[in-house]
Amino acid sequence: MTPSMDPNRVLIFDTTLRDGEQSPGISLNPSEKLEIAQQLARLGVDIIEAGFPIASPGDFEAVQGIARKVQGPIIAGLARAHSADIERAWEAVKDAERPRIHTFCSTSDIHIKYQMQNTREDVLGMVRASVAHAKSYVDDVEFSPMDATRSDIEFTAEVLKIALDEGATTINIPDTVGYSVPQEYGAFLTRLYELVPELRDVVLSVHCHDDLGLAVANSLAGLIAGARQVECAVNGIGERAGNAAIEEIIMLLATRQDELGFTTGAVTKEIARTSRIVSRLTGYPVQPNKAIIGRNAFAHESGIHQDGVLKERTTFEIMDPASVGLDSNSLVLGKHSGRHALQQALSEMGIEVSGQTLNIAFKRFKEIADKKKQVTAMDLEALVTDELREEAAVGYSLEWFDVESSSRRPPHAKVSLRAPDGRELEGSFGGDGPIDAVFHAINVATGIDARLREFNIGAVTGGHDALGETSIVVEVEGFTGSGQGVSTDIVDACARAYVRALSNAVHRRDHATALEPLEAPQPLSATP
Ligand code: KIV
Ligand code: ZN
Repeated sequence: MTPSMDPNRVLIFDTTLRDGEQSPGISLNPSEKLEIAQQLARLGVDIIEAGFPIASPGDFEAVQGIARKVQGPIIAGLARAHSADIERAWEAVKDAERPRIHTFCSTSDIHIKYQMQNTREDVLGMVRASVAHAKSYVDDVEFSPMDATRSDIEFTAEVLKIALDEGATTINIPDTVGYSVPQEYGAFLTRLYELVPELRDVVLSVHCHDDLGLAVANSLAGLIAGARQVECAVNGIGERAGNAAIEEIIMLLATRQDELGFTTGAVTKEIARTSRIVSRLTGYPVQPNKAIIGRNAFAHESGIHQDGVLKERTTFEIMDPASVGLDSNSLVLGKHSGRHALQQALSEMGIEVSGQTLNIAFKRFKEIADKKKQVTAMDLEALVTDELREEAAVGYSLEWFDVESSSRRPPHAKVSLRAPDGRELEGSFGGDGPIDAVFHAINVATGIDARLREFNIGAVTGGHDALGETSIVVEVEGFTGSGQGVSTDIVDACARAYVRALSNAVHRRDHATALEPLEAPQPLSATP
């Protein structure tokens, strides 16, 4: 913690767009990342780690776009302890209101020997050079000793002293492989404070992975030991088993403030919407019994519980569903609602639309209202996100499809697409089922051999007339792209999602340039 800070204030550092985006199968395009970052700002996070700018041109573009457009939170870019990474990270974040460079270097012997193939001595030089380099661009520099919890603590302390000497303002202690247990992680931080008393003058941060299901528990142990920044991701996504889940961290600190005494700047009623947007865009569904945001997190099955909650909510509920935004479905529009009512309902949800976007959203709303008795806030949110996605789309768009399906004959589909250059393309194909036939027909129309990698179908709300939503990941010549679609007709939702995923994969393929490979950095010879 820094002396000027409220000693109980915990900074929420969101890494959904960096560590979260490293989850297998997730591939967000820059406009989707911007949409998530804007929602994270509404959620009131303190720092958004927007990406790893050296990783690809798409990552760079996304971080730069977020730095330029998202106000409020600090915008951080990740960099290995490598001068090219630091330059690229700075280029990407420099237009932010408050930019940060986050640089890291492994300190465990196992990483130093096998991954980096160098020595402890090299690490000391790399850390000194990289923090100094980052500091030459910006005052706000975070340093992480990767695999800290499996590192020799005396060596880690030596490394941290160097990072602090060179001006790091946040020191993050990653449990990179999710190996620690809470009392051990807390003790590790306590010992670091003893070995490096200067840590008391900066912000100490926790970054815990969930391989043993302990990411949130370990993060809490770190906060109790004195850390005041917690790194986490929406829905707990991230490398392997993921990161500490932001919704659990925020609600843990809010609900048990009586016991823990910590505060955050989070706007808790934005939690549910943030979770839905991330789930929809990443294609990672939320398990029904997931704490805070799972479908059943506030559902009561047993008669005794239901009876208790009806009499007094707090008998079996420790949190109010409204406090995490799970009451938003109470907003309802009927089929006769006008353009103004739609605009106002969206505005209440924090979504401002006008002009042509409002016209298109209104047209979609009317189509849905004709098929559904009531259109809820969650329907509107899904529908508008879908429309905004269409506007920001790069590449192909779906014009129409015909599909014949029967239990007695093989299905057959015909599709029409608009190509990026304006040409109309048609294709037809048979398949194992109607959706498979549509996907193949899209491949025929575009002449692109896209391969389906992930496919999720869900319903936006309950009820037989619910909107269907689909999330798809495809691969085109080694490049993945994801796409989502929302419609009352599930085949339509699938076709839209597939065309978007294919377009995103093609965009990635066509914009890939041979940047330096992402391998462990080699020692730097001199301070830049
Ligand atoms: O888990 C980890 O060690 C990381 C670092 C880059 C902070 O994500
Ligand atoms: Zn991590």
